[in-house]
Amino acid sequence: MAGHDHDHDHDEISEITLRPFDLSDIDDFMEWATDEKVSHFCIWDTYTSREQAMGFIKNLAIPHPWLRVICLGEKAIGSISVTPGSGISEKKGELGYALNSKYWGKGIATRAVKIVVGTIFREWPNLERLEAFVDAGNLGSQRVLEKAGFYKEGVLRKWAFFKGRSRDAVMFSLLSSDFLS
Ligand SMILES: CC(C)(COP(=O)(O)OP(=O)(O)OC[C@H]1O[C@@H](n2cnc3c(N)ncnc32)[C@H](O)[C@@H]1OP(=O)(O)O)[C@@H](O)C(=O)NCCC(=O)NCCS
Repeated sequence: MAGHDHDHDHDEISEITLRPFDLSDIDDFMEWATDEKVSHFCIWDTYTSREQAMGFIKNLAIPHPWLRVICLGEKAIGSISVTPGSGISEKKGELGYALNSKYWGKGIATRAVKIVVGTIFREWPNLERLEAFVDAGNLGSQRVLEKAGFYKEGVLRKWAFFKGRSRDAVMFSLLSSDFLS
């Protein structure tokens, strides 16, 4: 029944939390890292082995300045990160995220982005601009950013080449002054 599903989704949303990655997240991480549907619009290739996935958690996820696991209760169901810039980009951070496809369409990614926005500008007082580039074909991700209050700034034509083709990217941003004012 639709009404029942809605209530259930609402309960799930209130159970969404973010925390740092841990080596013990490997099995949950494999669920989305090995899924073509998840990697399709992403620069990273689908993971094919547990060793490779363990390498990511150890060498990239844990040392990353701000990469969090999206948890539903105790289970890790996705990841979300803010990567700080340097040089002329020192006031900027780039947002990225991915979610286990079993949990798509419930508002979970939007909730995770809102949690990040609600904490990152206070955690990093130097941060003036949070930006995200989305493949023009990735309509679900564009919707997430719109729902989280990001501004769609424009389309960067043939901005990236990966997995055999050039892609237009849609540029989204949220400024600390948008959020804090
Ligand atoms: C993009 C992604 C994070 C979305 O997660 P999610 O939890 O399903 O997102 P939400 O439920 O919060 O919101 C998705 C919105 O997009 C909409 N949507 C999803 N697919 C769509 C499509 N193909 N066309 C149009 N809208 C779409 C949904 O209807 C929903 O909007 P609504 O609430 O107005 O109905 C998830 O699909 C994912 O992990 N994709 C693979 C990795 C990826 O693309 N990461 C982002 C790289 S920039």
